[in-house]
Amino acid sequence: MSLVLGIGLRAGTSYRELRDLVHDAVGASAVSQVITVEGRETEPGLQRLVASLGAQLFTATAADLAAQQVPTPSESVDRLTGTASVAEAAVLLSGAELVVPKRRSARATVAVGRLPDDVPRVAPGYPPRDRDVVHRVIAERRDVRRGFLDRPIDDDVLTRVLESAHRAPSVGLSQPWDFLLIRDEATRRKVHDLAVAQRDAFAASLPADRRSAFDGLKIEAILDTPLNIAVTCDPGRGGRHVLGRHADPRTTWFSAAIAVQNLWLAARAEGLGVGWVSFFEPGEVGAVLDLPAHVELLGYLCVGHVEEFAAAPELVRTGWAAWRPLTWAVHHETWGQRGLPGETASRAVAVRDASAAAEGAVRLGSGREVVRVVVLDGGESAEHLVAAEALVVQLGGGRPTADFGVLWRPARTEDEAVEFGVEVARDLILQGAGELRVECPGDSELADGFARGLRWGGIACGAAVVRGGEPRGVSDSSA
Ligand SMILES: Cc1cc2nc3c(=O)[nH]c(=O)nc-3n(C[C@H](O)[C@H](O)[C@H](O)COP(=O)(O)O)c2cc1C
Repeated sequence: MSLVLGIGLRAGTSYRELRDLVHDAVGASAVSQVITVEGRETEPGLQRLVASLGAQLFTATAADLAAQQVPTPSESVDRLTGTASVAEAAVLLSGAELVVPKRRSARATVAVGRLPDDVPRVAPGYPPRDRDVVHRVIAERRDVRRGFLDRPIDDDVLTRVLESAHRAPSVGLSQPWDFLLIRDEATRRKVHDLAVAQRDAFAASLPADRRSAFDGLKIEAILDTPLNIAVTCDPGRGGRHVLGRHADPRTTWFSAAIAVQNLWLAARAEGLGVGWVSFFEPGEVGAVLDLPAHVELLGYLCVGHVEEFAAAPELVRTGWAAWRPLTWAVHHETWGQRGLPGETASRAVAVRDASAAAEGAVRLGSGREVVRVVVLDGGESAEHLVAAEALVVQLGGGRPTADFGVLWRPARTEDEAVEFGVEVARDLILQGAGELRVECPGDSELADGFARGLRWGGIACGAAVVRGGEPRGVSDSSA
């Protein structure tokens, strides 16, 4: 049997008063849930009572409580809270049977309910206010590289942040992470030098337009922050029989990355900015930090108090990249059937020709970069990677060796090739492409389908698409 308490109380009601009231109502019986009206959950007396009962505290809105038919409504409570009952209504709202009607002390009321044993229990979520804070922290976390303050981080705050990071889930509970706290300026300078070298190398690889945009971006705050944290991963932690790792060793790295995300979110909640720097060859940082050889760098974080948190990522605000809509990322039952829960799922190729794509065009990015896309159905990809702006799409053959200049899109049918084309166009436009110049040297059916998809996807996102060096009009859909 599981008891539920509905409790109404005035602000400032003491723990002792609540304890006595509850004791009179239920004696020493076990209570699993306490429910009160939203806004009263922060009352210290109530919180202490809930903790002493070992119960969970939930809230209900006044509107939800007011909708319950209760045996003992009260006009004065209605005037005060907007519901004629808190205690009894809360019990009934929980689905419990009311076994002790409302009892009253000077400043509080309690009613007791019994949850039927045969009703399946559903674990409740957090009260709306708490739940919204979680979603807000996630939405308002930012990668911060500017505006750090010359202000130390309290040890208590840092410990809380590290505790949250350390609570991350991990494969087989292997907890493969460690956190190396770096404050020493000489060490940070050495790490900074490595990042500068990688920044220069990346800049040199960019086409002219993209390069000038990149020059305006800040990519690290190693020397601007009082604290750097190297998050490391020990891929062998836990020995041979780590549960769940045997089939997929990547899970070790996933686990350590989740610890970083926990750290990032907890830091945001504490008002600390975090910037992740990955402009490194990890081994070089490991050498500067004198890491043991079996421990690898997972992430290098710059941490400190900041002037403000921007509303949107810097890469979005500067037009370097754009958000990918969630509707593109959610698939139903089979890959490609996309849409939000509750929506009718559709394929990326919702449009069947270029003019239809142009009709509903939505400008997604603000990029102006011209990207030359070479579509190959088999054959040698490397020879086409001559210019910095060239992207080779390989439709057939095996997976090419890792190279971000080659996209592998092994389409099985022409329809799939069209679909992949739409998707690649959209993703390139999110990453700053303003115009796609498409070449298909082999001219196979698959390559032609992919190029068509590129055109539709490009046009639907408001970007110019040119094929074979010759501009094609929107009406010339070649669908
Ligand atoms: C694994 C990883 C590595 C990153 N490396 C860098 C980096 O080297 N420099 C940088 O400026 N931002 C880096 N970022 C931050 C991303 O640019 C940032 O998360 C993205 O633009 C979204 O912005 P937001 O984090 O503010 O939402 C990195 C982020 C992740 C997750």
